[in-house]
Amino acid sequence: MHYITKITNFSASHRVFNPELSDEENEKIFGKCSNKNGHGHNYKLEVTVCGDINPLTGYAIDLKILKSLIEKEIIEKVDHKNLNTDLDFLKNQIPSIENLATAFWQILENKLPSGKLYKIKIFETDNSFVEYYGN
Ligand code: NI
Repeated sequence: MHYITKITNFSASHRVFNPELSDEENEKIFGKCSNKNGHGHNYKLEVTVCGDINPLTGYAIDLKILKSLIEKEIIEKVDHKNLNTDLDFLKNQIPSIENLATAFWQILENKLPSGKLYKIKIFETDNSFVEYYGN
């Protein structure tokens, strides 16, 4: 089994807060991440697919195809957007990287031309990231 990863980037804004909580409670839990007017991040997204080598191509998955799939299905939808308000697939969810990873997984899972989705990794900063391996 081989594990193939494509790395892409996007920039987006968000406000991390729970609308069911008061401003005071949000401030207590999320601190400056719940700043009312939001803030931005330069995110890095790593999508890892696993699969067996196709003897015809030598590839487990064609990285050109994986790249265009990620760009069309994810990057075009999230880049330079407000994650709280602009994304149909994240409506009514707190825009944490955990929830983003789950949403990205659901989007990509059944769209791969070959191999299986293995991991979604999202960096929110250089030092903070989430890894999601599905359920
Ligand atoms: Ni943030």
